[in-house]
Amino acid sequence: MKRKVVLQQQKSFKYKWKRKILSLMFVVGVCFGTLLFVQTRYNDVVELVSFQKQLVSQSQVKEIPKIAFLFIARNRMPLEMVWDAFFRGGDSKFSIFVHPRPGFLFNKATTRSTYFLDRQVNDSIQVDWGEASMIEAERILLRHALSDPLNDRFVFLSDSCIPLYNFSYTYDYIMSTSTSFVDSFADTKEGRYNPKMHPVIPVHNWRKGSQWGVLTRKHAKVVVEDEIVLPMFRKYCKKKPLPEFWRDQHIPADTSKIHNCIPDEHYVQTLLAQKGLEEELTRRSLTHTSWDISNSKAPDRRGWHPVTYKYSDATPMLIKFIKEIDNIYYETEYRREWCSSKGKPSTCFLFARKFTRPAALRLLNLSALGELRGQNATSR
Ligand SMILES: *[C@@H]1O[C@H](CO)[C@@H](O)[C@H](O)[C@H]1NC(C)=O
Ligand SMILES: *[C@@H]1O[C@H](CO)[C@@H](O)[C@H](O)[C@H]1NC(C)=O
Ligand SMILES: *[C@@H]1O[C@H](CO)[C@@H](O)[C@H](O)[C@H]1NC(C)=O
Ligand SMILES: *[C@@H]1O[C@H](CO)[C@@H](O)[C@H](O)[C@H]1NC(C)=O
Repeated sequence: MKRKVVLQQQKSFKYKWKRKILSLMFVVGVCFGTLLFVQTRYNDVVELVSFQKQLVSQSQVKEIPKIAFLFIARNRMPLEMVWDAFFRGGDSKFSIFVHPRPGFLFNKATTRSTYFLDRQVNDSIQVDWGEASMIEAERILLRHALSDPLNDRFVFLSDSCIPLYNFSYTYDYIMSTSTSFVDSFADTKEGRYNPKMHPVIPVHNWRKGSQWGVLTRKHAKVVVEDEIVLPMFRKYCKKKPLPEFWRDQHIPADTSKIHNCIPDEHYVQTLLAQKGLEEELTRRSLTHTSWDISNSKAPDRRGWHPVTYKYSDATPMLIKFIKEIDNIYYETEYRREWCSSKGKPSTCFLFARKFTRPAALRLLNLSALGELRGQNATSR
């Protein structure tokens, strides 16, 4: 009897061991399996993450912000060969929009640069110097350029502007700050402010400056969406008619009292002041213009006129002189603007006007604008 009990105990003892070993094996198996599972999942996850990284970097490559170059031209682009050389160094970090006179077509017969083919806006208007139509043309160009979400800066250029540096230098200079570059100063000297604009545009927001500026996307939208300042300009900012047109209109006895207002020299800067955005501006132009007061002897024509550089003026020394300017003085504000880029003192100008076609071709020929085409320039 006792033996039987012992035997049974032995049996259950053996049985217990078997169970323990089995369950141990089970646990080990589960652990191993889990490990294997986690490992494969981990690999999947790693793969997924790196794939996502790839996707992100791919989309980042695609989403490099662009600079939109907005040209206001009459007919053809006389300096297209200079710009052609410039854009060759631009990868895909730019877009071009041209506003020619209505009816003018850029095609292979009218431009030798492929960069200007298919780039003209389809709703251009007749632009008259000193008229509000110049502002309208700027807004048309901005509206087209804004439709590409990658366009991040908007550079206004005339058909007589040249670039002074290669594309990469120009791109870095403009993109290194989050501000617009707008020549803007208080206009206290000449009576260009028309009191009839009050109170919509108070006199303390009245500004003057060159139209050749660079806008951020935010400021470009402000210009395109403006419905308050523009109507005031259309109504009350008009240029003084030249003497030969006087008999067409009623002229007061003292012609110096006529408001002489050139809309494009006031509009963008006044609008941005009006919107309280001046903190977001570098208040100077990147386009050099040389002004000449001795241009005219007739008192009614006297005033500041932009100098046009002809073939004989277009020397490397001229370009060197313009490139070395590192500060601008604003008389009406007693403000000296020391130019900087990327937080360091730098020269002021990236573009210059006004150049004739022979002058610009000469500069290109003399490589006076540096190696515009970038590293391949020497191999041409
Ligand atoms: C420069 O030259 C190389 C080959 O010589 C060419 O692959 C490259 O596209 C050129 N780059 C430009 C900007 O012309
Ligand atoms: C002008 O171009 C825009 C796009 O740039 C297009 O949406 C529009 O339909 C065009 N208008 C005409 C009249 O062709
Ligand atoms: C450019 O330079 C070449 C010689 O180096 C000369 O023959 C040509 O006339 C020049 N063109 C211009 C527009 O100056
Ligand atoms: C572009 O111009 C800058 C300044 O003149 C110069 O330092 C740089 O090497 C040029 N880049 C190319 C690609 O030629």
